[in-house]
Amino acid sequence: MTSSRIAYTAFVAFVSVVLTLIVVYLIQGSPEQVTMADKASSDSTVYTIDQVAEHNDASSCWKIIEGGVYDLTTYLPDHPTDEETFTRWCGREATPAWQDKGNGRSHSPRAAARLENYRIGVID
Ligand code: HEM
Repeated sequence: MTSSRIAYTAFVAFVSVVLTLIVVYLIQGSPEQVTMADKASSDSTVYTIDQVAEHNDASSCWKIIEGGVYDLTTYLPDHPTDEETFTRWCGREATPAWQDKGNGRSHSPRAAARLENYRIGVID
């Protein structure tokens, strides 16, 4: 094999890797853009305290946390406490419970990231 053939093969391999990276970037990029658009539109919906108060049990559980409104109905089975601990904050301002899990400590950054998946708007 001549050195120019080796260089050509290396060049083709390099271009293939770059093209693969571009395709992967494009595939992964699109759902993220949808998520950002969803977040922007859900962030702008304004709810009143009365509207939130209608969703005050396990069948439909909305909470106000740090100014945001969250529909946590589908998250309920995943929360690591008994159901009552979580549901008694449905339909109302739940920031104190969010910021103090009962041991003086707030929820973790991981929990905060999860919370954002359930954001439906902001409180009036
Ligand atoms: C607002 C009412 C809430 C109360 C009273 C509450 C209470 C608690 C308590 C007592 C723990 C500790 C459980 C243990 O150590 O066994 C805990 C942990 C946890 N909670 Fe909540 N929670 C609430 C809301 C939420 C929400 C809205 C989310 C996320 C959507 C969440 C996600 C988590 C996670 C992931 C943990 C594991 C520990 C951590 O990451 O901080 N919680 N919660």
